[in-house]
Formats: sequence, structure tokens, C-alpha cells
Amino acid sequence: MSGRGFPGNREDEDLSTHKATVHKATVKAPPNIAFIKYWGARDLERAIPFNPSISMTLERCYSRCTVEWLDQDGEHDIKWRGGGGGFEAAPPAFAERIRAHLDRLRLWAGVGGCFRVATENSFPAAAGLASSASGFAALTLATTRALGHNLAVSELSSLARASGSGSAARSVLGGYVEWPSGDSAEACHAYQLAPADHWSLCDVIALVETGPKAVSSLDGHRRAESSPYFVRRQELLPGRLEAVREAITDRDFARLGSVLEAEAIDLHCVAMTSQPPIFYWQPGTLSVLAAIRQLRRDGVAAYATMDAGANVHTLCQPDDAECVATRLGELEAVGDVISDRVGPGPEIQDEHLF
Ligand code: PMV
Repeated sequence: MSGRGFPGNREDEDLSTHKATVHKATVKAPPNIAFIKYWGARDLERAIPFNPSISMTLERCYSRCTVEWLDQDGEHDIKWRGGGGGFEAAPPAFAERIRAHLDRLRLWAGVGGCFRVATENSFPAAAGLASSASGFAALTLATTRALGHNLAVSELSSLARASGSGSAARSVLGGYVEWPSGDSAEACHAYQLAPADHWSLCDVIALVETGPKAVSSLDGHRRAESSPYFVRRQELLPGRLEAVREAITDRDFARLGSVLEAEAIDLHCVAMTSQPPIFYWQPGTLSVLAAIRQLRRDGVAAYATMDAGANVHTLCQPDDAECVATRLGELEAVGDVISDRVGPGPEIQDEHLF
């Protein structure tokens, strides 16, 4: 399947020659894994975060979305494929969020009509693997193109953020990405800290649970401030953000790893001490974390981070990725292992889903 990147993201093409004339577009967008996480919002409706976040965009996992704009009145038609089987009606809560975002984009574009949407994931949805980041990034990019717009990546990021899935703001860019806090025009979109080819890092994802998580990240953001550790985490973040920026610039993996693991544990401490508490970790999460500590004792540089879910992302360098995947795959608690790595970001595809 052929693919093209977005302006200001991939460097392989000048897309000014691709002014859309058709009202249909397909985009494949990857999830991202946050080294410093978005957890808690000043304005949840608009996804204005309390703190900046930094992530790495993945390459192999993806959401793919085809959007067709129909210049006629009617309901949006939203189909979804979670994996394996055929397309079906999207789960109601997800369909509702998609519908709201389509309405938002229609208003932004100043047009009427309705949309036909098909979206699919290559990996389990709503299991803490950032399917909403990739899903809403793909939806935003495909919808704006279907409407005939060829936007700068900063504007695409800002529109993706407005979906309510703030981390989607980071998934429109490849490589290593920072999303600032604040709601000024400069702060409300993500930007690239370094391209994927700056530093080849791997993410070995140990799946200990593939069902949807019990508490959505939106509810997590809502409850974050109720934790007594919320303020302490915010105090620690400026130093951590600087350490992660420097570690990326210097390609200092030991420094990056120690900060990202501490940050992930703190985020889950905040979740576990929120009112009411949120326990994303499962027994399998702890056995993967123990195996990663053992890998380090054995001389393998591997560090863990978890988003809002039980599954563990293990960051490592390419030479260690196979060993890490084998060791984690042997654990009884691990159902499957996805070996991913840093990637160049979303791409436009010529082949549509319908
Ligand atoms: O973008 P949301 O609302 O799905 O929240 C993302 C939350 C985390 O994945 C836990 C952290 C992050 O920055 O990706």
C-alpha cells in the first residue's frame, strides 16, 4: 500500500502538489508512548493539560481511517473494526466521541453535510495502548483532507487535540514529540523535538490484558487533582521534562530510562490515590516490571512505562529488542508481545477502507 507523509513531518514529499479535489481521504496514524505523561487537565473539554508531555511516536502499530464527506444532510455513518473480523457499528461511547469530533471539524471548516467513516486498529483498543491517540489523529487528518484542506502540522495537532484525546496532538507528528501546556496559540499544539532517525529506540509492549480498561483516561484526568500526590508530581515534572529533553538530544538511554520509569510509577501512584482510586495495574503488570528489573541486573538496558492500562511498554535499544521480547514473552502473565519502534508519523494512503 502506498503512503505519503504530512508537511513538516516526513521530509519525503512536498504535499502542496496534492491539493485534494476528492471528498474522500485515508490516513494511517500511529499511537505514541509518553515518556512524560499528560494526566490531569486545566480544561478537560478542550484538552488543555496541567503539564507538558513528551512522547515517542511508534511505527508498526496503527489506526487507519477513511473519511468521506457527503455534501448532503444526514447522520454520520461510523464503522469500526477492532481487529480480525469485518466492519461493524462502533461501540456507542467511541462512536459518540467520533461524532462530536466530526461536528467540531465541520464547524471549523464552515461546511454542512455529513461524513462516512471507517476506522480500524492494528492492536487492541482502549487497553492503555493509546488507541484514542492514533484513532483521533487519523480521524482528524483524514477529515480535514476529505474537506479539501492541506494544513500545516501545527494546525493538525491543534485540531487533533480538540478531539478531547489530548495525546492525539502528539500522534500527528513522528519521532520524539513535546506537547506544551497552556492554551495560547503556540502552546496548544505539539511539535517535534527530534525526528525518528535521530535515535533508534524500540518499544516492546507486553500485553497482560487486552480487554478495555475499567476507567477511561478521561475519567483519570478528571480525578487526578484529588490525589494528595498530584501537586508533588507537578513539582517534580519541570526537572524531569528537562532531563528527558536532554537525554533525547544526547541519546543518553540510561538517563532517559530512569526518568521515564520513575515518571510512570508516579503517574500510577496518582491514579491509585485519586478519589475514587484507579488501579490500572494487574498482577501481570507487576511480573513484567520484576522481569524488567531482572533484565537490568543481567546487563540489558530496558525500562518500563505504562499508560492508562495494565500493559507494559518496555523501552530498549535495537540490539536488545529481541532478547527483551523473548524474556517477556516467556512470562506466564504475558499473552502477547508487540515489538514496535520509533517511527516517522502518519501517512496518507491511496487505498481506502470503503
Ligand atoms: O489523551 P488521553 O486523554 O487519552 O490521555 C492520555 C493519558 C496517558 O496515555 C496515560 C498519558 C499520555 O500522555 O499519553
